Amino acid sequence: MECFCIDGGVPLSGTVSIDGAKNAALPACIAALLTDEPVILHHVPQLRDVSTILYTLGALGRRVVRHDDHVSIAAGKGLSAKADAYSVRQMRASFLVLAPLVARLGRSVVPLPGGCAIGARPVDLHLEGLRALGARVEERDGVVTVTADRLTGGRVALPYPSVGATEQLLMAASLADGETVIENAAIEPEVEDLVDLLRKMGATIEMNERTIRVDGRSELHGAEHTLIPDRMEAGTFLLAGAITSGTVTAEGLRSEHMVSFLEALGSTGADLEIESTAVTVRGPTRPRPVEVMTGPHPAFPTDLHPPLVAYLSLAGGSSRLTESVFEDRFAYVDALRAMGAQIDRDGRTLAIRGGDSLRGRAVEATDIRAGAALTLAGLAADGYTTVTRLEHIDRGYSGLERKLRALGARIERSQG
Ligand code: UD1
Repeated sequence: MECFCIDGGVPLSGTVSIDGAKNAALPACIAALLTDEPVILHHVPQLRDVSTILYTLGALGRRVVRHDDHVSIAAGKGLSAKADAYSVRQMRASFLVLAPLVARLGRSVVPLPGGCAIGARPVDLHLEGLRALGARVEERDGVVTVTADRLTGGRVALPYPSVGATEQLLMAASLADGETVIENAAIEPEVEDLVDLLRKMGATIEMNERTIRVDGRSELHGAEHTLIPDRMEAGTFLLAGAITSGTVTAEGLRSEHMVSFLEALGSTGADLEIESTAVTVRGPTRPRPVEVMTGPHPAFPTDLHPPLVAYLSLAGGSSRLTESVFEDRFAYVDALRAMGAQIDRDGRTLAIRGGDSLRGRAVEATDIRAGAALTLAGLAADGYTTVTRLEHIDRGYSGLERKLRALGARIERSQG
């Protein structure tokens, strides 16, 4: 079993380049299903999740060519209406193939991610939205079938600004008859990046705060697009600099996408030099405690919650973190406690009593960002930390240990 072996306690120093955003890459690859012409994407991160989605597109009949961080997706041997069950169960984002397939073929058949029941979380908003655009939705044995001779524009008021539901509806509306209005839409930078790509493909889309208007087209065309940088990867490296009291520059990011995160990091006493495409952090000797609540963009991003908590576990006082996006994003807390962090949980709020030090331990990554949090804790801990279940980390970070080593960290990937 592969693991990271980390010998903690080295202040990181240097510059790291940020890759393209995973959460922009996945919907962009899927948007290529909306046309038979080639869609060429640049700055595509080399991640397990991207490989999974490209595999799914290949299985649907697209011709996929990947070279370094460039991907070209074009018509291949037809287009199938039925998505591969394995990849949809691996990764929720694959569920986004539903809209392009029904828009192009009049029918799509896609397994429910994680086998959840229809009507319940987490895809009810996707399906309600597609119904509002005239689609019929049926579920049997954990598989959703959506049919529509032609999708028609409609008005959808989302009860919650779900990123995935907004992306699903944007793709459906781009090939629907007439105008669609999505109210209370997600406005994450990755949603805007998808809008950018869809416009290049010929869609007419207007965004006004949380209201998005889409004027549907009968067909879209090919396009070439460079993905935005990954604000979660950038935030993770800035926290790695801060937690080790080091000095790290993350370059190739967009600081305008990271305002709430940078505000929170700055209020811990970390010294920040912020430019539009680079941020340098000088970590404090000891962070000041802060109160943070995650939320839909532009609030503090939920994906940076676990790495932030790792950092706050070394603060000089008590911090509070409230997770308002996901009900149960706390699987990593026990592992941090085993490393000496003092964290109490009350519902969706953590009280983090800062301590003087963390101890190296053997811990397990339970998801992408949990893995990042434990790796950061290991970088700051006394002694050796091993982090197992790297398959989770590899879903969302490309060469994390290589990039950390280049900043001076003593971290190796080895067979445990
Ligand atoms: C995306 C990101 C993920 C990020 C999240 C929130 C991708 C590939 N993933 O996930 O990294 O953490 O946004 O910023 O872009 N919900 C429902 N019903 C639905 C849809 C969502 O109840 O039909 C709930 C979810 O259970 C969750 C909340 O809404 O509690 C937010 O989910 P959503 O914004 O849809 O996140 P994802 O698109 O899955």
